[in-house]
Amino acid sequence: MKLLVTGGAGYVGSVCAARLVESGHEVVVLDDLSTGHADAVPDGVRLVEAGIDDAIGDVLAEGFDGVLHFAAKSLVGESMVDPAKYWHGNVVTSLRLLDAMREHGTPRLVFSSTAATYGEPDQVPIAETAPTRPTNTYGATKLAIDHAITSYAAAHGLAAVSLRYFNVAGAYRRFGERHGVETHLIPIVLQVASGRRERVQVYGDDWPTEDGTCVRDYIHVVDLADAHLRALEHAAAGEHRIYNLGNGLGFSVKQVIDACREVTGHPIPADVAPRRAGDPAVLVASSEKARTELGWKPERVDLAGIVRDAWDFTRSQQGA
Ligand SMILES: NC(=O)c1ccc[n+]([C@@H]2O[C@H](COP(=O)([O-])OP(=O)(O)OC[C@H]3O[C@@H](n4cnc5c(N)ncnc54)[C@H](O)[C@@H]3O)[C@@H](O)[C@H]2O)c1
Repeated sequence: MKLLVTGGAGYVGSVCAARLVESGHEVVVLDDLSTGHADAVPDGVRLVEAGIDDAIGDVLAEGFDGVLHFAAKSLVGESMVDPAKYWHGNVVTSLRLLDAMREHGTPRLVFSSTAATYGEPDQVPIAETAPTRPTNTYGATKLAIDHAITSYAAAHGLAAVSLRYFNVAGAYRRFGERHGVETHLIPIVLQVASGRRERVQVYGDDWPTEDGTCVRDYIHVVDLADAHLRALEHAAAGEHRIYNLGNGLGFSVKQVIDACREVTGHPIPADVAPRRAGDPAVLVASSEKARTELGWKPERVDLAGIVRDAWDFTRSQQGA
């Protein structure tokens, strides 16, 4: 298939673009490099360096079999203090994309949605049937896009899949996480090991969990890319399917820090700080639906393996 990857110079988009190319697809990346890196675009892939708002019509006019839409603003804290950046940057931009796809007859869409659309769960593991009550603007914008996709699919025959990722981690070959503002636990902890940060903060050790720290679901970025390939194959005209993607295993903050200590050999000093408002104790995905309908199964579920891949990538960047 000829596929457009928006946000393909970012973390998840670059890994997916690389896996798509390896699977024989023709890939074009559209990215404004606002948080991405030109050198993260896989070899042989054309980079259109532009914003979706400016360039999407011209690009899709070339003719594509589908779009994988990763491009977004995705900092939860920033979304609360600068909501306009998120409503415009995520929702308005995605509507422009949907309209351009309609205009140019692009038949398939795979969208990067998020666990943040659910907010604080009544039950874990979280299934797709759970109520969607986002607790931050970022999650609210992603949920709004999901709603828009549902109605475009029903009205205009789009074949659409939204994938609601939990915490993405790990790396693949030369593609990994390089966010200017890092908010994800594993890269933050590894920044201590690589000398870019002195200590880590653990937000509360009195949660109702086994070791008292918050539990999250970490999905390896390669397993996530595999789910995108399957979503493309299973997308059906006129339908919008939604799947949660996690590895189904929760790891506590303490377990993550211990795994990073083991993999890096660094003591990684950690301090306990007060709980953060709005942090649920446990967020773990049920990925049963993706397993059953897409035939997807996460293969890289071992925490030490996920951390090792992220650490190898961190060290390759330091040597670069
Ligand atoms: N990383 C995670 O743990 C995680 C979890 C859940 C959902 N997601 C979603 O997955 C997607 C990718 O996340 P990521 O961690 O790779 O983020 P990222 O910031 O590394 O990648 C996003 C890319 O999109 C580009 N971009 C942003 N706005 C653009 C626009 N208007 N036009 C063109 N390019 C634009 C950026 O330059 C960047 O390269 C996002 O939609 C994010 O919300 C990520």
